[in-house]
Amino acid sequence: MSRRILFATGNEGKMREVRMILEDLNIPVLSMKEAGIETDIDENGSTFEENALIKARAVADCAGPEDIVLADDSGLEIDYLNKEPGIYSARYMGEDTSYRIKNANLIERLDGVPKEKRTARFVCAIAAVLPAKQGENEPKEREFVVRGTVEGYIGWEERGENGFGYDPIFYLDEYGCSTAELPSEVKNRVSHRGNALRLCEERLKELL
Ligand code: IMP
Repeated sequence: MSRRILFATGNEGKMREVRMILEDLNIPVLSMKEAGIETDIDENGSTFEENALIKARAVADCAGPEDIVLADDSGLEIDYLNKEPGIYSARYMGEDTSYRIKNANLIERLDGVPKEKRTARFVCAIAAVLPAKQGENEPKEREFVVRGTVEGYIGWEERGENGFGYDPIFYLDEYGCSTAELPSEVKNRVSHRGNALRLCEERLKELL
């Protein structure tokens, strides 16, 4: 079987972004589902990096010997709230709670907090597990993790219909709007995931 990149997600939006950014590696990029891999992963790490690596290793265990496996973990850190919701971003207030409610709650928790203390960032860690080069004995697999971020602040109201999750309350100074108000090409260019994917691509180019 020839070389493939498997990205550990079931999210099609993410896959589009990943395919676009990793295009010049000229290696087919498949989602877990497309590769026929189904695995239940317990994300019990204490950092974005640990969780990304847990996912990548779990998928690598089910992948072919030549496959390169990538997995990401991302979230929102709000400095005033001691970096909450952080690695619990998806689970904050419960997985099934709507982002209208989560976002309203976070704005409420920042009531009366001035702009300079409302700093926040989206973080994305991407872990890679790839086979050792031919002829190498040890180690059997090579691994690395990269981190991409985008710095901004939490606004006073939800704005914008694009994006997902916490985008309507996350504002960028240089654009003067929330990331939910940016067209997707612009968000991908500046986003934590875009930044992490570009770093990941550079590392893969060195290693392959
Ligand atoms: P995951 O790493 O894709 O599972 O994302 C974790 C959670 O972080 C998501 O469910 C969102 O709550 C939040 N998140 C990650 N990236 C973004 C983003 O680009 N916009 C808004 N929310 C995000």
